[in-house]
Amino acid sequence: MAASDGRDIFSLKTFCLVTGASRGLGQCMAIRFAEKLPAQSMLVLMARSLNGLESTSDQIAARASHVRTKVVQRDLSSQTETSLDALLRGLFEELKVAPRDFDQALLVHNAATLGDVSKMMTEIDSASDLNAYWDMNLTSPLLLNTVFFRHFTQDVVDQRVVINITSLCSIKPFKSWSIYCAGKAARDMLFNTMAAEDSSIRVLSYAPGPIDTEMQVLARRDTADDDLRQMFIGMKSEGTLLSCDQSIDRLVPLLQKNKFQSGAHLDYYDI
Ligand SMILES: NC(=O)c1ccc[n+]([C@@H]2O[C@H](COP(=O)([O-])OP(=O)(O)OC[C@H]3O[C@@H](n4cnc5c(N)ncnc54)[C@H](OP(=O)(O)O)[C@@H]3O)[C@@H](O)[C@H]2O)c1
Repeated sequence: MAASDGRDIFSLKTFCLVTGASRGLGQCMAIRFAEKLPAQSMLVLMARSLNGLESTSDQIAARASHVRTKVVQRDLSSQTETSLDALLRGLFEELKVAPRDFDQALLVHNAATLGDVSKMMTEIDSASDLNAYWDMNLTSPLLLNTVFFRHFTQDVVDQRVVINITSLCSIKPFKSWSIYCAGKAARDMLFNTMAAEDSSIRVLSYAPGPIDTEMQVLARRDTADDDLRQMFIGMKSEGTLLSCDQSIDRLVPLLQKNKFQSGAHLDYYDI
């Protein structure tokens, strides 16, 4: 199969893990994917907030009872390869499933943090804050990815897919958002490199557009750059932020057609 060609992602019995599935885009994506995936698919919902995760799971049960869900309460900022591998092995055992039971493995790296946007780059001075940021936003998705594909190898499932939720910030500087921008740029490049290394994994970096979630609340409150902060405040008051569903509406057909160049960065506004 060519690197720019794959099967409809929603046509295959899938083991899908979504990080940051307790609220915002991740919650919406998990519910919408559950509605579209075939029976006996399994969705693993990961984040810290148990209430949020259970709300996602309840909404899936109400709208898409043909799929199974499993809530996993985990802080992704403090994981190691060993802890994540143990987590996956434990899940297979508890759920009495094996990677071979599925036709597709889908990993959605959605969880992310905005970090400290109250400082211009020359004011950033805490190595421990920086390292914590990279741990959460770079190291943890990379290690989760490693252990996930250690179990879901090419010979085990028909199709393997990674969706990296990215941002316009990965290709355009936003003043006072240097760490977020750098994290998103690095994450895009990590997954773009994986796409180059392994053509058997379909990789998409999707920039969802400005969406009305808790991350935008922080953007309006904390952004140091006046123009940028006013832009976000204006978007909220004028009602021009997107809803999560609006953004997912553009992602879904992309995944159904599955013809994107693996590794590509595609933005809501480009589709
Ligand atoms: N909102 C926007 O305008 C916008 C624009 C472009 C890109 N994005 C991207 O879209 C994705 C989703 O963002 P969102 O707007 O939905 O943000 P959000 O409402 O802040 O949700 C972030 C999610 O990540 C999880 N998370 C945060 N820290 C975590 C940790 N330490 N361990 C595990 N999970 C953690 C949160 O769950 P818990 O708190 O329960 O752990 C939550 O489910 C992110 O990658 C973001 O960068 C957002």
